[in-house]
Formats: sequence, structure tokens, C-alpha cells
Amino acid sequence: MTNSANSPERYYLTTPIYYVNARPHLGHAYSTIVCDAIARRKRALGIDTWFLTGTDEHGQKIERSAKLAGRTPHEFATAIAAEFRGLWDRLDLTYDDFIRTTEDRHKRGVQHLFATLRDRGYIYKGSYSGQYCVFDELYVDGPPGTPCPDCGRVTETVSEENYFFKLSAFERKLLEFYEANPDFMGPESTRREVISFVRGGLKDLSVSRTSFSWGIPVPGDEKHVVYVWLDALANYITALGYGSDDPADQARFAKFWPADMHLIGKEISRFHCVYWPAFLMAAGIPLPRSVKANGWLLFDQGKMSKSRGNIVRAETVHEVLGADALRYFLLREIPFGQDGNFSFDALVQRYNGDLANGYGNLVSRVVNMVHKYFGGVVPECGTQTPAEATLHASAETAISAFSKEFDALNFSDALKSLWSLVAETDGYLTANAPWKKPADRSDADHTALQARVLATAAEAIRIITALAYPILPESAAKVWRQLGQGEIADAAKQGFLTHLAWGGLTPGTKFLEPAPLFPRAEKDAVERMVKIEEENSKSVIEAAGGVAAPEQPTPKAQPATPQVPESKKKAEKRPMEETKPTPAPEPAAEPAAAAPVQAAPAAQESVPPQGASPQHITIDDFAKVELRVAQVLVAERIPKADKLLRLEVDLGYEKRQILAGIAQYYEPEKLIGRKIVIVANLAPRKMRGLESNGMLLAASLPDGAPVLAGFLEEVPLGARLK
Ligand code: MSP
Repeated sequence: MTNSANSPERYYLTTPIYYVNARPHLGHAYSTIVCDAIARRKRALGIDTWFLTGTDEHGQKIERSAKLAGRTPHEFATAIAAEFRGLWDRLDLTYDDFIRTTEDRHKRGVQHLFATLRDRGYIYKGSYSGQYCVFDELYVDGPPGTPCPDCGRVTETVSEENYFFKLSAFERKLLEFYEANPDFMGPESTRREVISFVRGGLKDLSVSRTSFSWGIPVPGDEKHVVYVWLDALANYITALGYGSDDPADQARFAKFWPADMHLIGKEISRFHCVYWPAFLMAAGIPLPRSVKANGWLLFDQGKMSKSRGNIVRAETVHEVLGADALRYFLLREIPFGQDGNFSFDALVQRYNGDLANGYGNLVSRVVNMVHKYFGGVVPECGTQTPAEATLHASAETAISAFSKEFDALNFSDALKSLWSLVAETDGYLTANAPWKKPADRSDADHTALQARVLATAAEAIRIITALAYPILPESAAKVWRQLGQGEIADAAKQGFLTHLAWGGLTPGTKFLEPAPLFPRAEKDAVERMVKIEEENSKSVIEAAGGVAAPEQPTPKAQPATPQVPESKKKAEKRPMEETKPTPAPEPAAEPAAAAPVQAAPAAQESVPPQGASPQHITIDDFAKVELRVAQVLVAERIPKADKLLRLEVDLGYEKRQILAGIAQYYEPEKLIGRKIVIVANLAPRKMRGLESNGMLLAASLPDGAPVLAGFLEEVPLGARLK
């Protein structure tokens, strides 16, 4: 059950499996691209590599998204899973297996794991009453109304019979394991966070649900479905064949398990570093050798996510600059493990600077000159001068520095060191200027210089290209061909990186014709990408919202504590019905004491996906509603009206009175000075003898609580929302 030493012969790495409630965006592509680069390098080092990715298709969140889309969960999941897989194929990502958790092989494996845990005495029946975050599929400790500590969304009260896993039995064992395996988790921030979570005490974990059915039935008690995280985590073993009787599956599992690395996003480290190892220890299965967390890709300062409307799709970058540009940018720009900003400007700048003007230009100069001066045949280098010896030494240093940094997941530093070899080779060419013959140099001497300089520069390019291959596979393949080296993919299969050393470019090698590698991106590249994204979001909006799941703006990295059985903690009981999302209240037509708060279904699990048929309105219909920014000047309770507040608001051009049914949720004093959004042209209405001239806008949480709309930036009073 220990974390055995790294085997050089085979390497198994995995991406997280992606939820199918949202279409893939660059944030998802990031983890998969990182894994692809690692997998390519491992294979090119002659290591038998298995790279797994896939989709996470069960659970309440997917069930609800499908319902909103008017499709069965399976149909819904199949459509989104195909989008993920199709994108990975378009980006030429070399996964060896794509697992869907709805496949039979997975179901069989999960049931086998569940039965094993039960047979070994780690699962017992209990009942749970407490909070649950459907978005994160996470049990949350706390009374009703507690927000999810991961995403900030309101949690739902769940009260049901569950099977529990004895997580509490693994507290000490996990801490000992972390201690004995200091490289198990990374980066350091993740390691610290996980250790402090476990030190804080582990409570038993509910591993089944009964209030919905979209999941894998618990063997022998089919009214329960397996908790979606136990289901999902098991993909790493079921994909290899765990739980199968087929000898080929068993052999694959024996060969590749334990995984060398689970690459994950930082917010799911607790599931991978606490629950997963505990499940495996309990089942008597060896633990993965490492779990490494990437940071978030940010766009406009926020985590890229569909619901914030700040996503960029990998397809857009692929279409305008190519997949290699995206891979290079992500790995060079963002130190692995940290959050990193994505911007089109930064992308184009890196592309032009490092790829078009840097590596691409160097290759093109050298290949062209070999054609021009030597008919495309690599000349004999002749006697080396100190300049060649220096470049040679730098190339050897780059091989070791790049390898050391890359293998430690410091991709950015690895590329930095490799690109200093690009710059040095460029400088070497310029210093020796093989294209310029001084008057006092004989023809023979000049030809000798050209031969020496071009053979040396071409060899440096060969080294750079071989090392860059895992990150720039498409471009490296073109350069490899131009250098007369054949197919780089074949070389990679033969483990060409194991014997990469200076001197591999033999004189007499015939170069192919030069071909463009990275055409300079002109000014309009950014505009084109922005436009493609705009067109896409327009078509998604027109198609009624895609399949986004809203996310809160400030997710906290600190995970929640797991729930405990009813018998072990005090929890306020609430009826089962409360687990269902409460429909948004209707705007009160003629409210007596009812809330005249327009309640948008913003806190719902998902916006209606494609295929849903909302009641469309035209833009002209929308323009009829005059939404404006106003500031609260006065807020006070109305005697004998529990629910109503009387507000006086300033619209900049006029002040007016509004009555709002938010008294149970907002302290009047706290509203004073606050900027809000009102419907300014609503017909005046009388309530409790007072006139209300407008209506506040608020999101309605599933329990009916309103959350007033507001702004992060400064907005002038009276500004219209459109
Ligand atoms: N289904 C679970 C994982 C189960 S693994 C056994 C899940 N799915 S997810 O679709 O929400 O996220 C999958 C991965 O995508 C996570 O690692 C997450 O961090 C990553 N990303 C989603 N948006 C991201 C960014 N904006 N930036 C970087 N990665 C992000 O969690």
C-alpha cells in the first residue's frame, strides 16, 4: 500500500474528468494540454505511457442540467462528452483512453470498489441531515443557509438515509503517508492546505444518495446511488480494468496502477489527496504516486468560467494562431501551480516574440541559407572555433536544464532556458554573418565559415526542436522534416529524447524546402479572436444559453469539512422538499404584503441549455423595461408590514419612493448609500396606503431569499442597463 519508487518503464497520468454540465473552455483545455505535453515527453523518453482523460457524467448537477435542457441525462451527457472528446481530437491531444463514467466498464468497477469497501468493514448505513452543495457535489458542515465554502453558492438541506465511509479511521494513516511521501502532493500550498484539513479532524463521509437516481446503483441496495465523487475518483482505476474479469484488463491494471500522477485543478485537491487515498487504503489498493494541482486560468481577473461570461474557447486560438501557439503560451506564461492571466494581447505578444520572430525566424534563416549556399545539403562543419564550442556547451546545458525543469513541472522555466538557446544561436549567426563576405576573405575561407556556422546553427536547431517537441508537436514535426530527419512522431516512438546529444545532424543530410512555421500575427489577430468569441457567445445566447452552470465570483480555495452521520452531530432538521430548488417567486402583481422584488432565477443550478424552449422576447420587448441605477437614501420598516421596507432612492435626475418586500432579509440601515438596480418605468402601485414607484432587482436564491443586484465598478446614478 506504499508509494513505491518511480518505475522508469511505464508512466500513467490522468487529467480530472470533466463535468458535462458545461462545454469545454480554455480552463479545461489547460489541464489536458499539460498532460499531453508530459505524455509526449515521457513517450519520447522511451517510457511506456498511458494517458487517461474523460468525462464525469453522474450526479444531481448533471441530472438537473439535463432536465432544464429537456433531455435525458444520458443524451445530455453524451452530447457534451462528444464536445470534449472532439475538441481534444482537434487539438491533437494524445490521450490513450477517454472514459465516460456512464460506461459499463466504469459502473462495474465502481460497484466492485463499493462492495470491497463494504466487505472490508469500511461502509455502514446511517442517516444524514445537513447541507449539500449541488454545484460542487460537496457535503457542507453547518446549519441551513450555510453557503458552500468552495463556491459560495447557497447549499441545500438534505435529509436522507445514506451509506457512510469510515473516513475518520484514516486520519492518522493519511498524515503518516503524507509525512513518508513528501512529494505526493504539490505545489506546497496544496500540501499545506490538505495537511491542515486532515489535522483538523476527519469525519465519516456519506458515500451514497437516495433523493435522486442519476448515478451508479449501490450493489445490493439499488435505491441508493453511489456518491458522485466516489464514482468519479474511481475512474482512474476502472479505466485500466479494475473490477473486470477479462485477463487483458487485469494485465493493464497490473501494469499501470498505481498512477504516477493525477493532474488536477487546485480546488479539487481535497477529493484527490484525502478521500481518494483513504478509499484506496480501505480497499487495499496501492496509492497513486503523486497528485499535482494546477492553478486557475484567469480572464479579466476572474476564474475563467462560462457562467461569468469570461471564457475563451481553445477553438478560437486554434483557428487564428494554431494549437502550438496555445500550448506554448499556457506553458510558458503561467508558472505551473499558480493562477495565470490569459489575454489575447499577451498571447499575440508571446506568439510574435518567441515563436514568429524567435524560433520560427531562426529556423527559416538557417534552412534557407543551407539551401542557398549548399543546395540544401548539410555541409561538413570543419574545424571548430571557440564560438562553436560555446554554442555546443550551451546546447548540452539546455538539454539538462530543460529536462530537469520540465520533469519537475516547471514548464515555464524549462522553456525559458530553451529559448535562451534560441537567442544564443541567433546571436551566433548574426555575429558570424555567413551571408556577408568581407572583401579580405578568400572564397574558400568564406565557404568554410558558411559551412561551419550553418552546420552548427542547424545542429542547435535540431536540439531545440527535439526538446520543444512535447510542447510544439505540430511545428516541431515540420521543422524535423525540413531538417531532413523524417517524422518526429516516429522518432518519439523510438524514444529519441533518451539519446539526444550534440552531433546528431550528419553531413550530407538533405533538407526539405523551407515552409512557413509561425506567420507573424498582424494587429487584427486579437480583433479576430475577440470577434470569434463574440459571435460564439451570441450564438450561444440565441440558442438559449448553452449549458453553463453559474459560478460565484470569489470561490474560496479552503474546502469544507465533510458531513457526519445524524447520530454524531447536531443538525437542524428540515423537510426533504427543501432539497429541491425553490422556483423563483413570481413578481407580485398586486402584492399586499408580498415581495415586490423582481426575482430572476440567477441562483439556479444552470441556465436553460440548448434545446430548452424559453419564452423568447425580442430586443424591442426588452427595451421597454427601463432598468436604472439608483442609490438608497432612506430605508425604513413599515409598521405592521413584516415584509416591506420603504425606500427613498435617488436616480440622479429625480428621487422617488419604492416599497420592497425585503424586510426579512436586509437590515434597513445597511441599505443606506447602496447602489441598486430598479425598474424605473413600472406603473405606480399602492401598498399599505403608500405608493411604490418602481421595483428592485434581485436574484432569488432557492429558498426564496433575495440578493440585490449591484455593481463592482463605479456607476453614475440613473445609468441605464441595457
Ligand atoms: N468532475 C470534477 C473532477 C472529477 S476528477 C475525478 C470536476 N470537473 S470540472 O469540469 O468542474 O473541472 C475539471 C477541471 O477543470 C478541474 O481540475 C478544474 O480545476 C479545471 N478547470 C475548470 N476551469 C478552470 C480554469 N479557469 N482554469 C484552470 N482549470 C480550470 O471538478
